Amino acid sequence: MTRAVFSPAGGTASEQRPDVDMSTSLGFLDLPAPVLTASGCAAAGRELDQFFDITELGGIVTKSVMLQPRSGRATPRMAETPSGMLNSIGLQGPGIDQFIEKDLAWLEQRGVRTIVSIAGSNVDEYSKLAQKLRNVPGIAGIEVNISCPNVENRGLVFACQPDSASSVIQAVRRFSDPKMPILAKLSPDVTDITEIAHAVVRAGATGISVMNTTLGMVINTDTMRPALAGVTGGLSGPAIRPIAVRCVWQIRKALPDVPILGMGGIRTGQDAFQFILAGASAVSVGTVVFNDPSAPIRIQHELAQQLADHGFSSLSDAVSFAHRSADVDLVDDVEEEFEIE
Ligand SMILES: Cc1cc2nc3c(=O)[nH]c(=O)nc-3n(C[C@H](O)[C@H](O)[C@H](O)COP(=O)(O)O)c2cc1C
Repeated sequence: MTRAVFSPAGGTASEQRPDVDMSTSLGFLDLPAPVLTASGCAAAGRELDQFFDITELGGIVTKSVMLQPRSGRATPRMAETPSGMLNSIGLQGPGIDQFIEKDLAWLEQRGVRTIVSIAGSNVDEYSKLAQKLRNVPGIAGIEVNISCPNVENRGLVFACQPDSASSVIQAVRRFSDPKMPILAKLSPDVTDITEIAHAVVRAGATGISVMNTTLGMVINTDTMRPALAGVTGGLSGPAIRPIAVRCVWQIRKALPDVPILGMGGIRTGQDAFQFILAGASAVSVGTVVFNDPSAPIRIQHELAQQLADHGFSSLSDAVSFAHRSADVDLVDDVEEEFEIE
């Protein structure tokens, strides 16, 4: 394994930077590059394609699509927060049939690796979505958004109960092509995220996406009412990054062989590097896109630079590197580099 080379002063040795092999894999899903868009923050990628060539990314994760068209929640449905934002969009979208006909067809023709995100309000809806997507060309993987209320179980969010999370993934697995990569997208709003991770992997998920937004609330002090019409909303952006890194770390430790797509507040290549070191094999970029539409490709380039600066010749060597048992290896490297006797 290629190891990082650190200078004794604690800085990094950036001379003789190797070309970095950025290819990665999320289980059966091989990607030439590790940065994807986060679901809901870049629609189906068409708008971003005006700013950079979206085929250069690892892939596009599309906005979660439901069985039927939905107009989403009442407005206001976004509020600014320190270092982040709160949203309660409510899964507005065209429904699966129109999504397949328009968005997926465009993505396929554009040559994009597409991960389709699906969401439902009961297990049967997830099954039907999986059936609709089966045999549709141009799908590299399915991300299952389970941060939705289960209307058949008192509105409890699927992702917060191991049994419910598992039933959704089982249903999607059963109705999908056996070789289709299935990523279960987890919520951080649980006591033990590794319990949910174990449940979805047992149910047939081939990888884990983590994390979705965390539940928050803002009060508008002028109206003295909740700022969002939906009262609560999902917090995203840099404010949640340490929570997301912690989730990736814990899942990597509990399930060392399960690939992780990490996300939450990534704004720079250095942020993305944290997720890779914690155990993610690829990352998704969301909220930052709203003020910097070129962020995904910029972050991908910056991540390559970070890897080079830390002496990695391939991204895969850096995955989980923060979990190494002791810094003995680094001491060896420093000795080799500086010929310390
Ligand atoms: C406006 C908005 C809409 C979102 N819509 C979805 C969605 O449809 N499906 C989903 O799984 N996650 C959705 N998310 C969550 C993001 O995909 C991502 O998991 C989360 O925002 C953390 O990443 P970030 O901090 O980089 O945005 C949405 C987030 C935002 C801000």
